[in-house]
Amino acid sequence: MGQGKFIVLEGLDGAGTTTQLEKLAGKVRALGMPVLTTREPSDGPLGLLLRQALSGRLSLPAGRGPLSAETLALMFAADRMDHLHAKVRPALDGGTVVICDRYVLSSLAYQGATVPMEWVNELNREALAPDLTLFIEVDAETAATRRQLRGAPAELFEEDGLQRRIAAQYRRAIRLRGGSEKIVRVSGAEGIEAVTEACWAHVEALLHKRAKR
Ligand code: TMP
Repeated sequence: MGQGKFIVLEGLDGAGTTTQLEKLAGKVRALGMPVLTTREPSDGPLGLLLRQALSGRLSLPAGRGPLSAETLALMFAADRMDHLHAKVRPALDGGTVVICDRYVLSSLAYQGATVPMEWVNELNREALAPDLTLFIEVDAETAATRRQLRGAPAELFEEDGLQRRIAAQYRRAIRLRGGSEKIVRVSGAEGIEAVTEACWAHVEALLHKRAKR
């Protein structure tokens, strides 16, 4: 059995990565290929802790305050290594196509908005490089409107000014990593189906390359 392919979806909160993840997984499945959808923060122990921190449900002893930006950067990197070992690598080794909602680029963009991006990059040095990252690009205003329509309570990083900074950090992060790994920018401004088609063209090309080998 050959090695599977590792595909990552990235974008601002509200860009639609989760919707596209399911759409793309359905298309891979329709080709008869095994597919695993997953996400970061992961569903492992560190990921669960991170999700509690993001939604403000992590209660700390009185006077301890929230987790620092540096602590969060370390936790996201630690969760990533756990996720790789526990879930992603075994699936890839079994020939499965793995599609992951967020990965290293999220750490560079989100944590890189408050701590030096080079340090965050260093923390993630041992993280397996994806075969393809699809960056779904929407401006911060569009992302904010979509989050409002979703109606869920705002999480830690979902503040409009911060999201504009994160959008700029994503562009920097793509310049930093884009030379050594494949990162494609896809416009997320169109409707869901059009974005899926634009993403699918790149996924299909990657899977086709594999099938031809
Ligand atoms: P989501 O599952 O709704 O996309 O929420 C995850 C949040 O966590 C989102 O605001 C982005 C943030 N995040 C980071 O700040 N750093 C990371 O490395 C990852 C994976 C996510």
